[in-house]
Amino acid sequence: MTHFSDKLIRWYGNHKRDLPWRNTKNAYLIWLSEIILQQTRVDQGMAYYLKFSTEFPTIKDLARADNEKIMKLWQGLGYYSRARNLHSTAQLVTERYKGKFPATYEDIIGLKGIGSYTAAAIASFAYDLPHAVVDGNVYRVLSRVFGISTPIDSTNGKKEFNLLANEVIDKNKPALHNQAIMEFGALQCKPLSPDCSVCVLQTMCVAFANKQVNELPVKEKKTKVRDRYFNYIVVHSKGKTIIKKRLEKDIWINLYDFPLIETPGELNEESFLKSKEWKAFIGTVPYTVTAVSSYYKHILSHQKIYARFWEITCEITLKPLVTDSRIVIPENEIHLYAVPRLIENFLETRQNQQLRLLC
Ligand code: ADE
Ligand code: SF4
Repeated sequence: MTHFSDKLIRWYGNHKRDLPWRNTKNAYLIWLSEIILQQTRVDQGMAYYLKFSTEFPTIKDLARADNEKIMKLWQGLGYYSRARNLHSTAQLVTERYKGKFPATYEDIIGLKGIGSYTAAAIASFAYDLPHAVVDGNVYRVLSRVFGISTPIDSTNGKKEFNLLANEVIDKNKPALHNQAIMEFGALQCKPLSPDCSVCVLQTMCVAFANKQVNELPVKEKKTKVRDRYFNYIVVHSKGKTIIKKRLEKDIWINLYDFPLIETPGELNEESFLKSKEWKAFIGTVPYTVTAVSSYYKHILSHQKIYARFWEITCEITLKPLVTDSRIVIPENEIHLYAVPRLIENFLETRQNQQLRLLC
């Protein structure tokens, strides 16, 4: 099946983007780039990759880094368990493999946070081992070119596509082939309305011949999305505010946010200020509500969060509002803490509003 691979590789030579992680055979840097790219698109991922690879040029540097510093650099990428896995895997490789990234597929896939896609990517890009990558781009290209309608999220589909991907790979050029097919999916055979009229695979593409391009690939399940309603309490008291570390088993573990009251649905302002949860939070502390934001909509893979920020001013000491996980900090030091993107958006919007008021 090298005809397919030859065409892809030739196309890649003419169209590839120059991306920093493609100019290295360093398995650590390739691993780093892949973990970042699981989280974000290439254009945004670039900045994170450059930050991490500059700050931690070797896996040993990453291993001995402060966890808070890693979380802070990761800020904005979401899915923070990946940043924790990144750190613990760096420590394990430093100890068990003396800082040399393992060089077999089996050892690589044994590492925490590395599944079959990432293991194949590292094994092929760094060591030229013949393991085919199968990511969203690859599913799309294969399902269309070969006209396969087995759902890509079914057990059978995963097996079938994985077998096919390993049949069509050019075993003499696994790194090049894998980069090429992913890039082809990202730039040419796009999810929505690809421009088949200029496609180098058009003559062999089953989906094109059968006018099935927009029907492929097939997915079995639609992901269920849960709606959540967050009320964040932003306390102002003599230049101080309260933040808390998220320790619960939920999204954003170990990041900081404001005290939070989650409600089952939208509540109007009056019902919120009458709710048990609010009364439990504020107790007898005198306060004034100085601003209530509109809803910030924040979309995660399985949750849609509607967040509203209640800004209250208290003239007294904040001690009665402090618990084990809540800490009082100067308001202008919040940027020192790793916060979810949602909180960052709120802080930015508010800062812009304040600047506008000053003008
Ligand atoms: N997405 C995931 N891995 C990638 C890579 N190596 N190059 C471009 N995009 C990617
Ligand atoms: Fe994808 Fe269209 Fe090319 Fe087929 S012809 S591989 S559907 S871009």
